[in-house]
Amino acid sequence: MSKTKTIDFKMPESEAELYSRIDGNHIPRHVGIIMDGNGRWGKKYGFARVIGHREGVETVRMVVETSLDIGVKHLSLFAFSSENIFRPLMEVNSLFGLFEEILDIEVNKLHKRGIRFIVSGDTSILPERIHAKFNEAQKLTRDNDNLVLNIAVNYSGRQEIVDAVREVHKAVLRGDLKIEELTEEFFKDFLYHPEIPYPDLLIRTSGEYRISNFLLWQCAYTELWFSDSLWPEFSQEEYIRAIVDYQTRERRFGKVENL
Ligand code: FPP
Repeated sequence: MSKTKTIDFKMPESEAELYSRIDGNHIPRHVGIIMDGNGRWGKKYGFARVIGHREGVETVRMVVETSLDIGVKHLSLFAFSSENIFRPLMEVNSLFGLFEEILDIEVNKLHKRGIRFIVSGDTSILPERIHAKFNEAQKLTRDNDNLVLNIAVNYSGRQEIVDAVREVHKAVLRGDLKIEELTEEFFKDFLYHPEIPYPDLLIRTSGEYRISNFLLWQCAYTELWFSDSLWPEFSQEEYIRAIVDYQTRERRFGKVENL
C-alpha cells in the first residue's frame, strides 16, 4: 500500500495560513473523536476491512502529534465500542492484535513525549496478555502531563453511567454520601475519569451524524463537528479546520449571551 501520511509542519501556504488562524488562547482543553469509516476505506480501495483499521492508525498518530503541537491537553479516541465485539471474529481478533501491536510499539514513544495513556471501558474481555499491557501502559505513563490520551476500549457511554450509579449506591451504603445531597457536579466524580474535563469538541468522521454511545454524560454541552472523510483519510488540515471552526462558536451552555 502506497498511501502514507507524514507529519510535516512545513505545510503548503494555505495550510500554514489555517494553522496561523488558531487562537492559542482558546484551544479546546479536551477533544473527543469517533474514528469512523475504516472498514469502508478498506472496501473502497479493494482491501479487507482490517486493512482499513491498520491504515487508521496513521491518522491516530497524526491527531496525537497535532494535539501535542497545538496544546490540546486531553484527547479521547473511540477505538472499540461494547457493540464491536459482535463483529465477525476475524475482525475482532485483528483489532485486538492491532491494539497489542500499538501497545508494544508506541507506548514507550508516548511515554518519552510526556503523554499519559488512560483507558475508558472494560479491557478485561480482551485476551489476558493484552489486558495486562493496557494496564502496564497506564501505570508507566501515569505521571505524564503533556497530553492525556484516553482510549475508549469496550466502552459504552450508557454503561459508564450505570457503573457510576452503582458506585453512588455503594457510597450511600458506606455512609459516605446522602442521596439527597447528590448533585450533577458530584455525580461526575463517579465516572471512569472524573479528573479530565468534559470534551469541548467532538469530531466524528465518515459522514455519520451520531454520538453512538460515546461519552454521553460528558458531551451534554460539547460542540460537534462532522467530517465526510473516512477515518484513514482524515487529514491534519481537517483537524485544524475543526479546531478553528470550534473557536468561532459561541458557547452558551443553555444560558443567554452576555448583553
Ligand atoms: C471504526 O471504523 C473504527 C474502529 C472500530 C477501530 C478504530 C481503531 C483504531 C484505528 C486503532 C486505534 C487503537 C488505539 C489503541 C489507539 P469502522 O470499522 O466502524 O468503519 P465502517 O463504519 O466503515 O465499518
